[in-house]
Amino acid sequence: MSPNSTSTDSTDSYTDAASDRPMSSGDIAALYDEMAERYDRWDWANRLFSGPLRKRAFADASGRVLDVACGTGTNFRYLPPTAQLVGVDISADMVEAARAELEALGRGGTVYRMDVQELQFPDDSFDTVVSALSTCTFPDPVAALSEMERVCRPDGRVLLLEHGRSDAELLGRFQDWRADAHYEQHGCRWTQAPLAHFEETDLTVVESETFFLGMVTIIEARPTPA
Ligand SMILES: C[S@@+](CC[C@H](N)C(=O)[O-])C[C@H]1O[C@@H](n2cnc3c(N)ncnc32)[C@H](O)[C@@H]1O
Repeated sequence: MSPNSTSTDSTDSYTDAASDRPMSSGDIAALYDEMAERYDRWDWANRLFSGPLRKRAFADASGRVLDVACGTGTNFRYLPPTAQLVGVDISADMVEAARAELEALGRGGTVYRMDVQELQFPDDSFDTVVSALSTCTFPDPVAALSEMERVCRPDGRVLLLEHGRSDAELLGRFQDWRADAHYEQHGCRWTQAPLAHFEETDLTVVESETFFLGMVTIIEARPTPA
């Protein structure tokens, strides 16, 4: 990581508590079912902006890899071809698009419809858990991260690419002003503080790095030894 990387115990404070936002997993699934086709159509533009960061965050994912809230499968092409890939998403239409992306890329893997807050996998069953731009949409991000920790091997890694409130004052205030409308439209708490969620989990953030005026954060976390 760059010299700007920080080793952190996660000191951000909540600016937008998930508990203040009312959508259930079912609501979020319905919203993303509606958006899946548009997401898929504009995936090239998404990759133009986020591709280099996805590569940076996920290029050394290894072994059996779980992509949580995989959406249309945007991360898949940035994961090493040797990774044994499993994707999950709560939206059936996103899952369908992600399966098509696997096929288009000609790579092996499986995608399931599943709620990250109740993963149907045994403990310690993945070497690496990855997720991009997703904790902002989970009704209970702490429960979701705890599930990621549970299914990750004790010596494994959880790698996230997240977004939240900018630390540039004007931009942050704009996000605050639009927070309700943005949540209603996208089910996304874009003023969240992604690192703050870790404080209530058994994951230790070992490294984090921010980009785009603090709006985007790459996070590497590991299960905290018992
Ligand atoms: C903003 S999209 C990001 C998709 C993809 N990770 C990407 O980087 O493009 C958020 C995704 O999270 C999924 N999601 C939201 N809540 C979820 C949950 N509880 N369990 C699994 N997936 C969920 C949505 O269906 C959606 O596909």
